[in-house]
Amino acid sequence: MDVIHSVSALRERLQREPNNVFVPTMGNLHAGHIQLINIAKPRAACTVVSIFVNRLQFGPKEDFDKYPRTLEKDCTKLREAGVDVVFVPDESEIYPEPQTYVIEPSDLQHILDGAVRPGHFRGVATVVLKLFNMVSPHSAIFGKKDYQQCLVLTNMVRQLALPIELILAETVRAEDGLALSSRNRYLSPDERREAPHLYGILCKARDQLATGARDYQRIELDVMAELAHRGWKPDYISIRRQSDLRPPVNGETAMVVLAAARLGGTRLIDNVEVNI
Ligand code: PAJ
Repeated sequence: MDVIHSVSALRERLQREPNNVFVPTMGNLHAGHIQLINIAKPRAACTVVSIFVNRLQFGPKEDFDKYPRTLEKDCTKLREAGVDVVFVPDESEIYPEPQTYVIEPSDLQHILDGAVRPGHFRGVATVVLKLFNMVSPHSAIFGKKDYQQCLVLTNMVRQLALPIELILAETVRAEDGLALSSRNRYLSPDERREAPHLYGILCKARDQLATGARDYQRIELDVMAELAHRGWKPDYISIRRQSDLRPPVNGETAMVVLAAARLGGTRLIDNVEVNI
């Protein structure tokens, strides 16, 4: 496995490997990331993983500084998973000068997580496009855990006619249902015990929709109230359609229930798809 720090060395290495598949990450890798790598590996001769904590997608009051950086452990996991190339750029490699050209993901960046985290999806789309230009993969893998991110990037690829196939992977969960996330490590033991309820409550909403309930607002308010009652501070609970994250219309068959909520100082997001 080659660990590469500069864009020029990366380009040189990948000249020999034009058939490559790419998994972008911010590191602190867990089984969710490893699943993406397992999906990637059979698809190309060379699997490339990037580890880069992207300042551009963090708000000024967010956890950029304390985001866990665990490069050595990550490299051990990547080696075990059979990754060929790990790209670990310094900030000056990705942003050698202030980033004045950015990708604006139109309307999607202003709803749901975008409304709570202004500029977040601009930062995500901009860095992913730059990484795509550095790696030139034919395919890239992303997790549905970050559902809105998947949609932002799918639209970017389509609208900018990028010659890259995006493959979306299911959310990997702990045994008790909590979606794996690098931010779970911020949870205290009590919070960790409470955290799986977010998924449990989303599943309850899914089951109501699956058995015919259509009062979307009622369901959203019930979920919100239950979370608040348990001590969470919900940012949003929203039933949307899968295709564009707009509110569902009558007769909608492909929906997703999305949630973001704070438990103590930790912000967790999760979602469940509903297919009727
Ligand atoms: P990061 O949070 O490190 O996640 C990297 C990839 O792993 C993303 O595609 C994310 O959706 C996926 N992932 C995270 N937890 C998962 C889980 N429990 N199950 C399945 N997949 C999971 O997402 C980012 O980094 C950044 O925004 C990035 C795309 C790298 C741009 O900076």
